[in-house]
Amino acid sequence: MAMTLVVGSQWGDEGKGKIIDYLSANSDYVIRFHGGNNAGHTIINDYGKFAMHLIPSGVFYKNTTAIIANGTVLDLQVLVDEIKMLKKVGVNLANRLIISPRCHIIMPYHKLLEKVYEKAKGKSRTGSTGRGIGPVYADKVSYNGIRLADLFDQKIFKEKLSIQLLVKNKILQALGEKPLRQKEIEKNILACFRKLLPFIKEPYSIFQKVIKQKKHLLFEGAQGVFLDNDWGTYPFVTASTSLSGGIAAGTGIPAQKLTSVIGVVKAYTTRVGEGPFPTELLDGIGEKLRTVGGEFGATTGRPRRCGWFDAELIKFAGEINGFTELAITKLDILDTFKEIKICTHYTLNGKRVSYYDGDANFLAKVKPVYKTFKGWEKSTKGITKYSNLPMQAKQYLKAISDLTGVKIKLISTGQKRSEIIKLY
Ligand code: GDP
Ligand code: IMO
Ligand code: MG
Repeated sequence: MAMTLVVGSQWGDEGKGKIIDYLSANSDYVIRFHGGNNAGHTIINDYGKFAMHLIPSGVFYKNTTAIIANGTVLDLQVLVDEIKMLKKVGVNLANRLIISPRCHIIMPYHKLLEKVYEKAKGKSRTGSTGRGIGPVYADKVSYNGIRLADLFDQKIFKEKLSIQLLVKNKILQALGEKPLRQKEIEKNILACFRKLLPFIKEPYSIFQKVIKQKKHLLFEGAQGVFLDNDWGTYPFVTASTSLSGGIAAGTGIPAQKLTSVIGVVKAYTTRVGEGPFPTELLDGIGEKLRTVGGEFGATTGRPRRCGWFDAELIKFAGEINGFTELAITKLDILDTFKEIKICTHYTLNGKRVSYYDGDANFLAKVKPVYKTFKGWEKSTKGITKYSNLPMQAKQYLKAISDLTGVKIKLISTGQKRSEIIKLY
């Protein structure tokens, strides 16, 4: 049996989709357990190029069943469209997709409320993906959410919706937005629900059964450690728990069942949206990372902020998630750099400090201390054997492993499924 969790170790977009797609070859179940369509997981394989937002990235292997577990929040239209898109390219999900009725639904008012909050915050805005993620989770924890389960009884759904609209429309109108119409929302939500009905089923007993059968479960983390609602750079975070412990609440499976926790890490660092970023490069080097790395959001198309690898962050990520190994991605993007830097630790007012010592304001003030490495200035693109990597690239990877205290299992050397080195 293997129970493998893939966690984003930075600020999202580490290449989780690529790693999940690769690992799915040997998986029976691939499971999303938190977040929503704020995620954009890019996959390039025999079927084409995709940015997956809700359906687990492992569906391209026919041996897998995809599960969207209870911790995930759903924009029903996005889900319906994603199923349709997959069918069109030849990935039929009939009998291969299970959606938990416990999932909360993103409503049109969630997206609107998010917009007015971001506008009101001005410069201190989160820079969210605009998918209504914060407001839907806020309603979930304050007992105001509407779940898929509510749609089985139209009377319950309509009642719940009318209470929400009573409050939300007043807020929206006070902030200059038009009130939302109940009938229109009902119609759209119920139309999507009918299309999703064949897939909606509580997965709890399936999990229990397949764990006993020693099947291979692959859990697909979304976002990243430093976007975690508790341990990220709050308030510049997302609304869910993106840490390994999140699988317990998000699926109903105890985290201690995990047999490996793989931290996916870009060979440098990126961030999209607002918030502190100690190793950010606002110069030509940052621009080169963005251009060569194609660093534009898979969900919103926004340019990503770029900087050097930050070992202080990844060491913390390893500890708090219990990483058993790392998957390093985008090594090839560093191929043409003469010099490459790693931040080994931070200082503040001349004293050594750690990530967890303070909040977002603190992190904005820390000074990264760098170790400089000679670049390899050779192509690593598509290399599949460790022994074929240039010596300087090996040294760089060893430094990452030594500084973070986690061994490296996978090294990705390109966007395609096959462009990867498996170390053991
Ligand atoms: P995710 O959200 O963690 O799945 O990551 P995204 O898909 O948002 O962003 C990662 C980007 O890097 C995508 O465009 C991937 O195709 C690309 N990518 C992943 N691994 C590699 C790699 O090893 N080399 C290169 N050049 N691109 C990669
Ligand atoms: P994947 O799974 C990168 C960021 C947003 C914003 C903050 C809050 O593709 O790695 P939200 O819409 O969640 O309320 O936005 O979090 N963010 C991501 N950044 N990758 C993601 O997902 C992200 N999901 C959210 O840019 O800063
Ligand atoms: Mg992404």
